[in-house]
Amino acid sequence: MSEERDKLCFFVNGKKVTESHADPETVLLSYLRERLRLPGTKSGCGGGGCGACTVMVSRYQPATRTVVHHSANACLLPVCQLHGAAVTTVEGIGSTRTRIHPVQERIAKAHGSQCGFCTPGMVMSMYTLLRNKPQPRLEDVTQALAGNLCRCTGYRPIVDGCRTFCQEAACCPDDACGSCCMNGEDGPEEPEEPELFDEEEFLPLDPTQELIFPPELILEAKASPKTLTFRGERVTWVSPASLEELVQLRSSNPEAPLVMGNTHIGPEMKFKGVLHPLIISPARVAELFEVAQTSQGVWIGAGCSLFEVGSVLEKLLPSYPEEKTELFRALIQQLRSLGNQQIRNVATLGGNIMSAYPNSDLNPVLAAGRSRLSVISDGGRREVPLDRDFFVSFGKTALQPEEIVLSVLIPFSRKWEFVQAFRQAPRKDGSFATVTTGMRVLFSEGSRVVQDLSVYFGGMGPTTVSAAETCAAIITRPWDEETLGRAYDVLLDELVLPPSAPGGKVEFRRSLTLSFLFKFYLEVLQKLREMGVVTGEVQEAIQPLPRELQRNLQEFQHVSRNQSDWDPVGRPIMHCSAISQATGEAVYCDDIPKTDGELFLVPVTSSRAHAKITGVDVSEALKLPGVFDVVTARDIPGKKVREAYGYTEELFAESEVSCIGQILCAVVADSRAHAKRGAAAVKIGYEDLPDPVFTIEDAIARSSFFEPRRDIQRGRLTEAFQTADRLFEGEIRMGGQEHFYMETQSMLVVPVGEQAELNVYVSTQSPTTAQEVISETLDIPSNRVVCHVKRIGGAFGGKLTKTAILVSITSVAAWKTNRAVRCILERGDDMLITGGRHPVLAKYKVGFMRDGRIVAADVQYFMNGGNTVDESTLVAEKVLLNLDAAYNIPNLRGSCSICRTNLPSNTAFRGFGIPQCLLVVENMVNDVAMALGRPADQIREINMYRGPSVTHYKLEFDPENLHRCWEECMLKSDYRARRAAVDQFNKRNRWKKRGVAIIPVKHGIGFSEPFLNQAGALVHVYKDGSVLVLHGGTEMGQGLHTKMQQVASRELHIPSSKIYISETSTNTVPNTVPTAASFGTDANGIAVKNACQVLYQRLEPFRRKDPKGSWESWVKAAVFDQVSLSATGFYRGPEYYMDWDKKEGHPYPYFLYGVCCCEVEVEVLTGDSRTVRTDIVVDVGRSLNPSVDVGQIEGAFLQGVGLYTMEELKFSPSGLLYTRGPSQYKIPAVCDLPLRLNVYLLADSYNPHAIYSSKGIGEPTLFLGSSVFFAIKEAVVAARSESGLVGPFQLDTPSTPERTCLACASPFIQKIPTSKPGSFKPWALNI
Ligand SMILES: Cc1cc2nc3c(=O)[nH]c(=O)nc-3n(C[C@H](O)[C@H](O)[C@H](O)COP(=O)(O)OP(=O)(O)OC[C@H]3O[C@@H](n4cnc5c(N)ncnc54)[C@H](O)[C@@H]3O)c2cc1C
Ligand code: FES
Ligand code: FES
Repeated sequence: MSEERDKLCFFVNGKKVTESHADPETVLLSYLRERLRLPGTKSGCGGGGCGACTVMVSRYQPATRTVVHHSANACLLPVCQLHGAAVTTVEGIGSTRTRIHPVQERIAKAHGSQCGFCTPGMVMSMYTLLRNKPQPRLEDVTQALAGNLCRCTGYRPIVDGCRTFCQEAACCPDDACGSCCMNGEDGPEEPEEPELFDEEEFLPLDPTQELIFPPELILEAKASPKTLTFRGERVTWVSPASLEELVQLRSSNPEAPLVMGNTHIGPEMKFKGVLHPLIISPARVAELFEVAQTSQGVWIGAGCSLFEVGSVLEKLLPSYPEEKTELFRALIQQLRSLGNQQIRNVATLGGNIMSAYPNSDLNPVLAAGRSRLSVISDGGRREVPLDRDFFVSFGKTALQPEEIVLSVLIPFSRKWEFVQAFRQAPRKDGSFATVTTGMRVLFSEGSRVVQDLSVYFGGMGPTTVSAAETCAAIITRPWDEETLGRAYDVLLDELVLPPSAPGGKVEFRRSLTLSFLFKFYLEVLQKLREMGVVTGEVQEAIQPLPRELQRNLQEFQHVSRNQSDWDPVGRPIMHCSAISQATGEAVYCDDIPKTDGELFLVPVTSSRAHAKITGVDVSEALKLPGVFDVVTARDIPGKKVREAYGYTEELFAESEVSCIGQILCAVVADSRAHAKRGAAAVKIGYEDLPDPVFTIEDAIARSSFFEPRRDIQRGRLTEAFQTADRLFEGEIRMGGQEHFYMETQSMLVVPVGEQAELNVYVSTQSPTTAQEVISETLDIPSNRVVCHVKRIGGAFGGKLTKTAILVSITSVAAWKTNRAVRCILERGDDMLITGGRHPVLAKYKVGFMRDGRIVAADVQYFMNGGNTVDESTLVAEKVLLNLDAAYNIPNLRGSCSICRTNLPSNTAFRGFGIPQCLLVVENMVNDVAMALGRPADQIREINMYRGPSVTHYKLEFDPENLHRCWEECMLKSDYRARRAAVDQFNKRNRWKKRGVAIIPVKHGIGFSEPFLNQAGALVHVYKDGSVLVLHGGTEMGQGLHTKMQQVASRELHIPSSKIYISETSTNTVPNTVPTAASFGTDANGIAVKNACQVLYQRLEPFRRKDPKGSWESWVKAAVFDQVSLSATGFYRGPEYYMDWDKKEGHPYPYFLYGVCCCEVEVEVLTGDSRTVRTDIVVDVGRSLNPSVDVGQIEGAFLQGVGLYTMEELKFSPSGLLYTRGPSQYKIPAVCDLPLRLNVYLLADSYNPHAIYSSKGIGEPTLFLGSSVFFAIKEAVVAARSESGLVGPFQLDTPSTPERTCLACASPFIQKIPTSKPGSFKPWALNI
């Protein structure tokens, strides 16, 4: 091959880009951000799983003479693949400097942008949809957004903003909500009610304003193609122009992959470090994209994207009788939930087949449907059946390495032939299936006798597998229960998974094979009945879970009539940087331009859970191109450890490691890619230490705890247990949670160059902590370190202590090299290193009376703290402080122990232990209800605090608003009627069950350590009248800056437009406390108010002198009169405290109350569920900003739904976190939004303890997500009763489909043999 290389040409936002040195390893995302300086497109995962990097790609299709637009993940698109394409990024569609695009405007103004990190991706997914379909249906919107994750908003406001483009029918189907939301008192739109946004003010969508497709690219597309070659540092890319050339190239390089969508090869190269020196890109070979109809079916080119495959099949449906298109429809159905829109737009049919994923969604259906492949090589063409012999082993097929799949036959079905596909996945959309299947049956004409049957499964082994023996047991027999009954046993014997099979979930997976066969049986039976072959009553086929979103309602109070128009307090003001976030102009840490000589840092982490370090060899790393240095503990000039709560934590492990993921050293290089390669080349020697501790049980057995171990008690337990009518002992296990902030840990440390000064740009909730640890680490005074936080792309407690360690390490590198050093963790490293919410095992004993009163409870909590103490002891204290939940249990005892284990250390997470604490208590109350056979809401009501009350730590409070929330939620949700309707539903449905639950929350706000109750502010008024507000809180999406602007506006009597908040920094407001504990607004609000009042007073003489003057004239006059227009403000909070020796205190200024009612529908056979309705009532006092508060409520609620029902961390038996990205760890997506979500802010509530009578709201409603868990548990109760099971049972969280399905104990579950614990090594640990 010659050494020639071609120029890569494509367009970005209408401008031509010509790259003479295109590197095949460069993906569009880094090219846009680093080369073209277009940082609007964000990186959230790098693997196609989060959508933050979504762009639109447009190409001219000469055959149809049309321009085709599709959304794509820039993180998986090799730049070399873009030759001849036009790319549009968020910067290309609108900006604040020119004109913002309606999509940007509507998402922002509908309050769909909080931290904003996901917003550009959301905007681009929606923008692309509108380019293809200017008036979409709501379903199109949810499909388009299905691949975009947001960790802040809960999606409702994003969908509501986007639905303004839809021409939708205004009414909801009454099936899911029980009554029409458009009429009667239930109706959402009382015209006089205030609304969160006003659709009337939105810009219209004007397609004529969009960028035109570059004519140059049209000409180029029409010209005859020529071979293109691009050469990079390690990889060469060849894109042949013809099929002959492709065949030749492949036959001489059979090991080189054919890169089409790059959705398989890309992640392999990125995450597994696979290097392909040669890549063949057949994307311009026309034969791979041809579609041909024949008498056998339709041949679809292997290069067609999965989206195109779906479209082709859909278009063909009307042309053929239904009986011929059974396979088409099964494939269409499967394609709807395969991956997400961005993936389906680029991933190809041939790529999916040839990647031979064990859980490919297409392969089982294609195989069952008797598909064939047309393949070509230099030996000629041949047809290969896609059957049981095709999938040889993991990732391998029967094709020869040099063979190329040209096209795939999707055969027509015949009369009396039926095809179906089913899949079950951890999340409904955007998730690989746990088990997936394709099934086809052919009957002898006019009979129910099976003539032919084929059944294939994915997810049941290393390849797509055929259940041939099961089929043989059914063929020639009638399609009836007896045949199927026998077939289940054959299937169980045929598809055996060993108990330690990779992927785990063994019983669940096995049960799914039976369940799918049963579902197929019912579907086919139904069809046979319709065709008159089967007569009489037959069991109905199982309908899919409901999915139509309905109108939502957010109810809040008007501001008083007397409030001035300019005064924004209490109004639903948009997040102050929402527009910049939607246009991609908002600057996050990694968007700061690179400085000269800047280095990139990648940490080297331990691969052993507990071992002595016997050697660190960096020699190979230092030889690699671009690697500049390796930083170790020896380079730290100051303290090598962080001290916290009586323990120390090393910045770099020096002699011993205590978890996988612990940082040992760090490589700095001239680019991310080089630093990453350098880190991979560092060799660490280990000598394993015996018996690592991983699980809570291990820790208990070995007494491995962090001290102190707290307890608390009120009343007399022993006596109370003796006098109780009944006793119950229970247990629940609660999984941990990954923060999954969309912006990973990010920091940039820039040495100023004199007197040891450093400028630090860091995404942290506590710039002061970062400043302190850097100064200690480098042994320099704090006055040399300035930490700047402009905004944070989500934090949730995870950007505090862990960031402090990372930023100290980065500053050591900057110190040593005297260069700017940037560290942006990859998602996988972030998840591996930084820990999350503490998993909990709780055991309780409860004593109660026959009338439902709980008289005594003793709860023991064990939390998995990981390898360092971090803030775990404070988390344990919060657990015990909230032990009483909403209930007056007269005799109550709790203890909480933090287990020291060899897992990454856990840390603060929204709610700080309270979500764990309350779940256990509510589960205990549920058990009491189940033991008494009474509805849980009654037991809750009976035991709730009432009248003047005292907590178990002797704090007096008035629970009146708790009751008001409870009653209002009962009323608004129509709880009683819906409960009755749920019972009816459950009687009618055997395989689907509903559950409804109503759950209260009482949550103490603020810090219980006195010194944390302080805040500072600095306000400058400039000569032109503009105002700069600086305060100690950080903006991480929670709208703190917006609220502070509102406060300043009210106090200075000027509109918010004159006020700006540029950043949080340690040189403007010193000694700040972390922005946490839902306390940011309470504390900083008073500091800002204080400073503004001082300034307002200083202007008083000028106002008096010139009453008709303006703000600007008074300011100018004051400046000329030598008056200082800069003031500091301070908040010194009361001395809240908790005395753990006396077990009493006043740790909180006030409580926030809320109640949530949720109804869910559960599919018994798969454990899938959907929340059909949620009503939340929250007492936020007098809301400072209803849109921000509703945003916090909804976002926290959905994060809670994730915690309690979806998000599952998995660790290997050696302590390695398996779940290191969105592909393995499922946070809620748009598909998890309740079909109807109503939020009501309690009216007429006042709070004397916080600014303007408001309440802090960031954390408490996370717990309300547990109402989905309890509703699922209710549905499970109904399912269990069908199997004759009644009374309390243990359902751990997250109640994933697996746990839910197993708990339902259907006859299929009961058929699955279970392996005795201890008799095998499970694939994953139950930590
Ligand atoms: C986030 C994410 C979610 C996903 N979810 C799902 C899911 O839910 N269900 C599911 O089934 N899949 C899922 N996938 C997998 C995805 O469908 C496959 O990666 C994709 O179909 C592969 O196609 P591609 O064009 O991107 O292949 P590439 O990565 O470009 O290539 C893959 C392999 O196929 C070979 N190949 C490609 N074309 C041909 C050809 N014509 N002839 C011979 N060999 C060929 C290549 O040599 C290469 O080895 C997901 C992937 C991602 C990244
Ligand atoms: S960064 Fe591309 S999908 Fe997550
Ligand atoms: S606003 Fe969506 S991730 Fe923060």
